[in-house]
Amino acid sequence: MEFQKLVKKLLALLITLFSLMLIVFFGIIYYDEGKILPDEIIVEWDEKVLVLNNPITPEKVKEGYLLLSASSQYMGPLNKDSKRRFSGNNLSCTNCHLNGGTMSGAASWIGINDRFPQFGGRANKEGSLVDRINGCMERSMNGRPIPKNAKQMKAIIAYMEWLDYGIPRLNTENFKGYPKIDPPQFAVDLEKGKNIYANECIVCHGKNGEGIRHEDADKGYQYPPLWGPDAYNDGAGMYRVLTAAAFIKNNMPYLQANWENTKLSDEEAYHVAGYINSFSRPKKAEKEKDYPDKKLKPVSTPYGPWSDNFSSDQHKYGPFPPIIEFYKEKYNLIKSK
Ligand code: HEC
Ligand code: HEC
Repeated sequence: MEFQKLVKKLLALLITLFSLMLIVFFGIIYYDEGKILPDEIIVEWDEKVLVLNNPITPEKVKEGYLLLSASSQYMGPLNKDSKRRFSGNNLSCTNCHLNGGTMSGAASWIGINDRFPQFGGRANKEGSLVDRINGCMERSMNGRPIPKNAKQMKAIIAYMEWLDYGIPRLNTENFKGYPKIDPPQFAVDLEKGKNIYANECIVCHGKNGEGIRHEDADKGYQYPPLWGPDAYNDGAGMYRVLTAAAFIKNNMPYLQANWENTKLSDEEAYHVAGYINSFSRPKKAEKEKDYPDKKLKPVSTPYGPWSDNFSSDQHKYGPFPPIIEFYKEKYNLIKSK
């Protein structure tokens, strides 16, 4: 009897020891992976695993992530403290910069710190990353700028820096901007745009582009709005047909298309981009001051003044190749949006 008990105890001890060894072994491998993964490896974006519940992610980085991915609650209209409200609509930054800003073909923030400071035509001067963030704040988010020294701005920057050292590379290339579309030789056809919208977009973004709110009233959108009072304003990059078409082609319909596997053709993306931008949205004040050097204005900027004689209709709906040709011949400027 005594002997049997002893064997049982020994066995239990052995099993415990063995399990401990397994835990340590996989623990080491997992820990190592976080540090030495090769640049090229492809990892799926998972906000909980990579950011929010990741014990080695700094608190400030998590804070930055929440500001960017749940903007309406943390720095927008749903924040009860008016001093902490910066964005004016209920979008999140990550509605356009997908997967926490790590998605190729969706104006990713990976490598962003190396790209700034950078010359920007909209202000006609060298701008910092803070300026660029506030560019989206005042236009895409229809809000007011976050001061450079505010703790919100510091947390956002900390997150963007962390993207370069804190996570394994999520994709391999095309981090910057959107892959361009070939601008069609004809103008946007709103009737065609309407049909594409009805077939490919309406289920999520709604009949009137109003999107679908989260079930939880304390949160922003499950599917963000594309036009109307709570959408990006008319000074935003997405209000340019060529920019919107490039985003749409490489990212929409959501989960059915990405930069490597697109669904819409250039032409379809172009018509539907014109269609969503044909409706009213909030107005940005003093847009006429954008691009002090008018010839640097992107060709599909739909608001004047311009340094050419093409109509405002053509700047809004194309065709763009004649305008692109004009700037190439007259100023030797190559324009793509
Ligand atoms: C299955 C649902 C779904 C479909 C279908 C879909 N979208 Fe989206 N769309 C989304 C979601 C979700 C986001 C935000 C992505 C995120 O936060 O990760 C988004 C974001 C956007 C944005 C940027 C954010 C904004 O509100 O301005 C645009 C523009 C857009 N979609 C246009 C379109 C167009 C045009 C189509 C049709 C060709 C389309 N979408 C089809 C779900 C969808
Ligand atoms: C409605 C869509 C939209 C929303 C919402 C949005 N952005 Fe953007 N963002 C853009 C577009 C369009 C560009 C320009 C992409 C291009 O053409 O290369 C851009 C560019 C940027 C860039 C520069 C990227 C680069 O590689 O140069 C940064 C940084 C940025 N946005 C940050 C933000 C932040 C922070 C927020 C939230 C406060 C935000 N964006 C919200 C559409 C959006």
